[in-house]
Amino acid sequence: MGVRTTFRPAVAAAAAVLLLLAAAVPVAEGRLTVDYYARTCPKAADIVAETVMNKQIASPTTAAGTIRLFFHDCFLDGCDASVLVSSNAFNRAERDADINLSLPGDAFDAVVRAKTALELACPGIVSCSDILALAARDLLSMLGGPFYAVRLGRKDSFVSRADAVEGHLPHSNSSVSQLIALFAERGFSPRDLVALSGAHTVGFAHCKEFAGRFGPQPDPAADPQFAETMRRACAGYADRPTIAVFNDVMTPNKFDNMYFRNLRRGMGLLATDQALAADRRTRRYVRLYAANQTAFFQDFVHAMEKLSVYGVKTGRKGEVRRRCDEFNSLLV
Ligand code: HEM
Ligand SMILES: *[C@@H]1O[C@H](CO)[C@@H](O)[C@H](O)[C@H]1NC(C)=O
Ligand SMILES: *[C@@H]1O[C@H](CO)[C@@H](O)[C@H](O)[C@H]1NC(C)=O
Ligand SMILES: *[C@@H]1O[C@H](CO)[C@@H](O)[C@H](O)[C@H]1NC(C)=O
Repeated sequence: MGVRTTFRPAVAAAAAVLLLLAAAVPVAEGRLTVDYYARTCPKAADIVAETVMNKQIASPTTAAGTIRLFFHDCFLDGCDASVLVSSNAFNRAERDADINLSLPGDAFDAVVRAKTALELACPGIVSCSDILALAARDLLSMLGGPFYAVRLGRKDSFVSRADAVEGHLPHSNSSVSQLIALFAERGFSPRDLVALSGAHTVGFAHCKEFAGRFGPQPDPAADPQFAETMRRACAGYADRPTIAVFNDVMTPNKFDNMYFRNLRRGMGLLATDQALAADRRTRRYVRLYAANQTAFFQDFVHAMEKLSVYGVKTGRKGEVRRRCDEFNSLLV
């Protein structure tokens, strides 16, 4: 190759711009790649897919639970499997506080099974946080949702603290302003908030999260007949706290845009769901997604890809846990 002797300012300027752009990309994200395990564990994604899909066939509540588990993991200090750690004598873990929010056991079990299979195939290679990111994606598409590429190379956290939960996750009582602020703190727009909330097109919620809206004085935003049905479904729930209702009563097991169509006719389950259809900052997206499922899927994928790289740890900022529920060492 010959050495260039002519000085070309345009090229130099373009190169400088590229360098600046490269510097602006957060380093942690930059290190994640879709083929991260290509040499070290080429079947990693297949093994996760097969294991969690079998789990979903045996226990159909797995998928929605796993999507929610992933959201909670990522929202609390990044997608680092901190939510999977169990408490021990020295530490009350995130999960202990989050369990009050009824995270389902099936979802934890799906990750544990995938990890067990991976430790046999390629011991010590695949992180629990990558497993959870892949599992959420696979199960989502199994329910009919959009498929998207998941970049890999996350490390698992060294910390998981119960006291990091309170006030840092959205709540069925949060106002739209609180939701917008909580998401904005992490770089998510109101549009992302509405798209991600579309995950409530699957799964269920327990009566304590919404029963107050439907009686004795029903929320005027609720469809009266829907309110009456919900009131009856939750009758006596204080004594039977396990009663739960599908988030999307029309197509509960299908990942589609029915959640938004329900909101348009006053059939949102949580106060936060219904409020998105009324607030002037969010209602335009509810309308858009109710009318156009393609637009919903497009924005949902964009927001999930963003969520999937939020606050990830790489290099020595984390480890590949041998068990997803324990740090590798008690000594930090
Ligand atoms: C915007 C604020 C949000 C609030 C206030 C909220 C709140 C809730 C509540 C209270 C439940 C019911 C839990 C139960 O009683 O078992 C629930 C379920 C669920 N949430 Fe959310 N959530 C929000 C956003 C999200 C996001 C962004 C996702 C995922 C991308 C998500 C995914 C789910 C799923 C899939 C379920 C069903 C879980 C199951 O069936 O086990 N949520 N959510
Ligand atoms: C769970 O909720 C109960 C009642 O709201 C509360 O007293 C308890 O401290 C919570 N547990 C954790 C681990 O946060
Ligand atoms: C919502 O807020 C009210 C008032 O602060 C509280 O009494 C109620 O328990 C909350 N609901 C839930 C589901 O936490
Ligand atoms: C629905 O949204 C997609 C994606 O944004 C767009 O290409 C398409 O034109 C929209 N369809 C209608 C009927 O508006």
